[in-house]
Amino acid sequence: MRSVGIVGIGSYVPENIVTNKDFELFLDTNDEWIISRTGIKQRHIAPKDMPVSELCYQAGLKALEDAQIAPEEVDLIIVATITPDYAFPATACLVADRLGARNAAGFDLEAGCSGFVYGVVTGSQFIATGMYKTVLVIGGETLSKVLNWKDRSTCILFGDGAGAAVLQPVKEGFGFLGFELGSDGSGGALLSQPAGGSMYPASLETVEKNLHTLQMEGKEVYKFAVRVMGEVSLKVLKNADLKIEDVDLLIPHQANIRIVDAAVRRLGISPDKVVVNLDKYGNMSAASIPVALDETFKSGRIAEGDIIVMAGFGTGLTWGACVLKWTKVGLEV
Ligand code: UT7
Repeated sequence: MRSVGIVGIGSYVPENIVTNKDFELFLDTNDEWIISRTGIKQRHIAPKDMPVSELCYQAGLKALEDAQIAPEEVDLIIVATITPDYAFPATACLVADRLGARNAAGFDLEAGCSGFVYGVVTGSQFIATGMYKTVLVIGGETLSKVLNWKDRSTCILFGDGAGAAVLQPVKEGFGFLGFELGSDGSGGALLSQPAGGSMYPASLETVEKNLHTLQMEGKEVYKFAVRVMGEVSLKVLKNADLKIEDVDLLIPHQANIRIVDAAVRRLGISPDKVVVNLDKYGNMSAASIPVALDETFKSGRIAEGDIIVMAGFGTGLTWGACVLKWTKVGLEV
């Protein structure tokens, strides 16, 4: 099996920022409640006419530029999203077309906020086996389009954005060292967009009942998240024969600062090794981890050989983590 790493990264968030104060104008909420319960101060929201494929295209373009790879060289594009442009065709195909990646296969992957981790794990298998050389994985969301803006328990939590990673073979001993993925469909109803699929096809009734918007049992998801974040991070380290002391950087899914803090306590990792940017972006679902990775790398905080853990959880329910030894140098194969 070949070693696989991330040789290019990029991200994109829409310009428009909505602050907690902005919510006070139309919702029974306040800045103090949102910050103390979630840690979120603001989020970026896409304009009405900007679909998720646009965010994914922008992030993907930056990642390819960063890796200095032409779109034609990409073998496969995976878009992790729960807010695709359409039920079908796949957003990945639309993004491939925008990028000019005419030699790429493409499909969407739906694993909620674990989507980017699921995506890089999936994409890296094609390279590890020698079938493909270059895979572009994008986590992108426009959750703002499926929120109930009258539901204060959900609409204040989420933001829009996209982050992308170019995967290629890297030198032995570097790149992805292990992963852990899991799911439990018995918790599917805890976080869902019920209508629009084959269970509740779109109808006047589904629209009237707001069933096309995100519905969440916040408390239950919170309990699940606190439990699973610590568990999955420890498991992935065990799979790679590493200890928590070996970790230079933990990039957790950015849902709620209290969930991150609980994971930090449980893992006994130093908080200065943990990336937090949810104050600026809210929960961007599949985009949270790659946007955080991109920002952290651009800030100069990641060095060759660093051990990085990325861990997420989300609708499904799903969870996933991967550990990699950082290098951005691809191998000529
Ligand atoms: O990516 C995965 C997706 N989701 C998550 O990770 C979310 C996980 N869950 C959470 O982060 C938290 O459960 C929330 C942030 C959603 C809610 O925090 P909480 O501490 O669990 O609050 P709560 O739901 O127990 O609500 C406490 C109170 C309630 O009022 P009463 O019943 O005590 O009078 C809510 O109605 O806070 C009220 N409340 C609000 N008040 C002001 C709920 N939302 C708001 C709000 N502003 N935006």
